[in-house]
Amino acid sequence: MSKIIKIGFLGCGNVGGGVWRLINDFAGDIEHRTGLRFDVRKVLVRNVNKARGIDFPEGVLTDNVEAVLGDPEIDIVLEFLGGEKPACDYLLEALRRGKTVVTANKVAFALHWHELQQAAQESGAGLYYEAAVCGAIPIIHTLNESLQANRISYIYGIVNGTTNYILTRMSREGAEYANVLADAQKLGLAEPDPSSDVEGLDAAYKLSILASLAFHGRVPFENVHVEGITGIKAEDIRCGQELGYTLKLLAIAKRDGLQVETRVHPTFIPDSHPLANVNDAFNAVFLRGHACGDMMFMGRGAGDLPTASAIVSDLVRAASAQKHIYPTFDNTLHPSVALENNTDWQSAFYVRMLAVDKPGVLGHVSQTFARYNVSIRAMQQKHAAADGRVTLVFITHQAGEKAMHQALKALDANFASVESVLRVES
Ligand code: HSE
Repeated sequence: MSKIIKIGFLGCGNVGGGVWRLINDFAGDIEHRTGLRFDVRKVLVRNVNKARGIDFPEGVLTDNVEAVLGDPEIDIVLEFLGGEKPACDYLLEALRRGKTVVTANKVAFALHWHELQQAAQESGAGLYYEAAVCGAIPIIHTLNESLQANRISYIYGIVNGTTNYILTRMSREGAEYANVLADAQKLGLAEPDPSSDVEGLDAAYKLSILASLAFHGRVPFENVHVEGITGIKAEDIRCGQELGYTLKLLAIAKRDGLQVETRVHPTFIPDSHPLANVNDAFNAVFLRGHACGDMMFMGRGAGDLPTASAIVSDLVRAASAQKHIYPTFDNTLHPSVALENNTDWQSAFYVRMLAVDKPGVLGHVSQTFARYNVSIRAMQQKHAAADGRVTLVFITHQAGEKAMHQALKALDANFASVESVLRVES
């Protein structure tokens, strides 16, 4: 005899529609595998009359959130509204009323995870969020459960598909950012307002969740250093390619003792790195654990069915759980033993300059770098610009973030002007 689980949806856009279809089209297999049958009792939408291409049974659609949260028969609430408000309030209310929550809402987790977890633990409800990071890739479950026997030293993630698509096309075509973005918008591959993606916020929300789980301590979203891809020039991608590097928007989290650094920024990685071949809208997470060694997970980070894949798997897990499990770290914004936020991280740098072509200029640059302990690993001099200045491209060895910026500031502008600075990881 199958167990019937009554569920409610908060929202039903692209992802909600995918979940509806997956639950229905795959119902026989799920029931056969798990003995569970899902009955969607209520679906909260803004406009019940809008055409959605789904044949909802009479009375399922509602524009009243209380019809979902106040229905005592609904055990599990699936949230697809996204964003902070009102989604977060609804999630908290559902949890307080003892309803288990399954969500793809990375903003809610990055900003209000501690409140959500507290409400869940107080009522005993479950809190499932696999789809909040990297869509179909099961990275949350992996960090929460499968890698428990590891001390993870770092995570590199390509966690935003929109920016990966844009950078992939810029790299392949030598095209400028604005042209590729406009085309991606035309093709529906970038949002009409792409700011959260292209400015790196979406990736930063996800990184704060991944880093917290990987390092077993809350890494607040505010601690994530964020730079997006809006200032990237085709010329820098080309110069990097000539030196054997691929540009990616990387979400980077590293831990050394209690020191943690979290940063999202465009990053050159060697062409030989596995992440360099993660192209188009694909996502990937590369991590290192002291026992498991290096691992990479790759897959689709967005889209209706890939996201639904994570949500419905969470739903099955939530409905089968004897007891819900929560992360065990002190999930508050100000825990008594906190991870420390390191903002003076070490990385290699790519620097492109325009320099006058006369004796002593290279000496000036290398001496200035040396004064700040920045060592040059590779240098390329390129064609002269119209004003007679030449392009110099440097790759440095590992250097301190602050030292590198001080060195660049100390350069004599009569000799060389800095055009671009990008970080390099290997
Ligand atoms: N907008 C995100 C991306 C997907 O482009 O990857 C949802 O997090």
